[in-house]
Amino acid sequence: MKELTQAINTHLEAEFHASHSYLSMSIWLREKDLAGFAEYMLNKSNEERGHASRMIDYLLDCDEQVFCPPFSRRNAPGTPPRRCSIRCW
Ligand SMILES: [Fe+2]
Repeated sequence: MKELTQAINTHLEAEFHASHSYLSMSIWLREKDLAGFAEYMLNKSNEERGHASRMIDYLLDCDEQVFCPPFSRRNAPGTPPRRCSIRCW
């Protein structure tokens, strides 16, 4: 596998992680009735997923292999989710 292809595939995981983190923040903000902030974070989540989508398009257009990172569940179903560990300023 080309070094660039490997690097992009590695970066895909970061994009999806960022998207998921922003989505978690958006949910938390909605729970606190902070709709405007929640919408902002949801837009950020979609933006990060868009970055991943563009990288996937690039790899496929170059006939390179795409490795979609697996989603790992950290909590058993029915248990409260862990709070995001990213600090929000
Ligand atoms: Fe991004």
